[in-house]
Amino acid sequence: MRSVWLDTHQVPSAPAGTLEPGARYDTVVAGAGLTGLATAVLLARAGQRVAVLEARTVGAVTTGNTTAKLSLLQGTTLSQIRRHQSDDVLRAYVEGNREGRDWLVRYLTERGVPLQHRTAWTYATTTKGAASLRRELEAAQAADLPVSWNDETELPFGVEGALSLPEQVQFHPMEVLGSLAAELRERGGTLVEGVRVTGAGLRSPLTVRTSHGSVEADRLVLATGIPVLDRGGYFAKVAPNRSYAMTYRVPGAPATIPQGMYLSADGPGRTLRTVPVGDEELLLVGGNDHVTGRGGSEQARLDDLEQWTRRWFPGAERTHAWAAQDYRSVNLVPFIGTLPRGGGNIYLATGYNKWGMSNAVAAALALTAEILGGSVPWARTLGRRVTTPADLLSALKVNAGVGFNAPRDWLKAELAELPGRTPEEGEGLVGREHGRPVAVSTVDGVTCKVSGVCTHLGGVLRWNDAERSWDCPLHGSRFGADGALLEGPAVRDLRRVEG
Ligand SMILES: Cc1cc2nc3c(=O)[nH]c(=O)nc-3n(C[C@H](O)[C@H](O)[C@H](O)COP(=O)(O)OP(=O)(O)OC[C@H]3O[C@@H](n4cnc5c(N)ncnc54)[C@H](O)[C@@H]3O)c2cc1C
Ligand code: FES
Repeated sequence: MRSVWLDTHQVPSAPAGTLEPGARYDTVVAGAGLTGLATAVLLARAGQRVAVLEARTVGAVTTGNTTAKLSLLQGTTLSQIRRHQSDDVLRAYVEGNREGRDWLVRYLTERGVPLQHRTAWTYATTTKGAASLRRELEAAQAADLPVSWNDETELPFGVEGALSLPEQVQFHPMEVLGSLAAELRERGGTLVEGVRVTGAGLRSPLTVRTSHGSVEADRLVLATGIPVLDRGGYFAKVAPNRSYAMTYRVPGAPATIPQGMYLSADGPGRTLRTVPVGDEELLLVGGNDHVTGRGGSEQARLDDLEQWTRRWFPGAERTHAWAAQDYRSVNLVPFIGTLPRGGGNIYLATGYNKWGMSNAVAAALALTAEILGGSVPWARTLGRRVTTPADLLSALKVNAGVGFNAPRDWLKAELAELPGRTPEEGEGLVGREHGRPVAVSTVDGVTCKVSGVCTHLGGVLRWNDAERSWDCPLHGSRFGADGALLEGPAVRDLRRVEG
């Protein structure tokens, strides 16, 4: 499964061998998604010596698999924040997102990166959904956003109501990363792929440990999606949410596909936008999200999305299908700032809840200001937001929901014995062998046996039947069938098991 973005735009690669062990930088940024590259460019513009170390390839995880709508109308996010936070925090959230959006639009325009201005929509097909739209409209008004109510849309089915906000933006996220990577190099910055940050010291200059030796830096920015160092316990403060996307060639397009950027207020989630590729316009359809590693067959979610698309866009022919995850913070506001117990020199940004196009740039602006000795008012307000007892309870529920996967439970022998048979093509089995969880799968005719225990904090892995990966239901680490780490808070591959 590969996204239309990763398939249609390659960013020139920078192999791991180009990292000089022992090299000294002002700032090392871990992760070459939108957060990492925007932060690195801003620091390089300020004259810093910056290195971006990317464990896989530029955009490989979430930014290269997003839907890339850059919008201040964000589904029902504002009303959800308002349920947990004061109007000051709500306005600070919108302010940060506005700054992030405006910076990115200016940047893309100056660099000649294509973008399309579109109206953003949140629509409801049930009366319950319409009630959440009303709350969203009130929250948008409280944040001075000119959102309007509509009774009709250009969707091929009726709605109970829809909110709209004109002049938002969509783009090709890999073209954006390509432009940021090019500017970083123009300014003398370093970008290396295939290098994983595995740890860091406490004292400045920090020793940053990687899969290819150590380097030194005054500051380290963890732009890794979920932070990869466990100080601060962010893995328990954010939940990984995985969802699915596909692009389609629709007969008669563009006249037959909606031109706005749509998101449903009701579940199961549905997201729509157009994707210009060459001289055609594809339709992107996404949704069916769930907590990573939980909620049954991933393939069934993809099939359901496909059926929905064929129902409403007859004759649609699929060109790409993919999946990705983003992290939702317990109190719905991103975490941006210094890592606790990082000596004030390690920074993080996470918890964008699928609105990272503006939040990642907002985080880059806030982190850069802080690293350079300043601060931005909206980020200070967000930093003072509260986590209510209800938020803590919901975080506890998320963690309790997976309690039976914790190490102590598999030690209590809850797992069945690993079946003696070889898995069918595309199948993965997990069970006990010599008392320990072992995971075995067959993909493209190759059978692999690996440890069934996540290298982060010991969750028992589950087979993802759509992406053919081992996914951890505790905090969302994912591994290939061969045990290679794909994403999440873990920093080590799974151990191969003989036999
Ligand atoms: C399906 C989906 C649709 C979305 N749609 C939208 C949308 O329409 N609009 C919107 O605003 N947002 C959207 N989002 C959210 C948005 O895509 C993300 O919030 C954003 O891309 C996150 O960027 P990032 O740079 O923080 O993370 P990433 O892009 O994941 O980058 C993190 C990078 O860090 C690397 N890394 C990880 N660990 C290490 C390590 N130890 N050492 C070095 N590197 C490491 C990873 O390989 C990765 O490349 C969507 C998200 C999903 C999942
Ligand atoms: S991701 Fe934390 S235990 Fe697996």
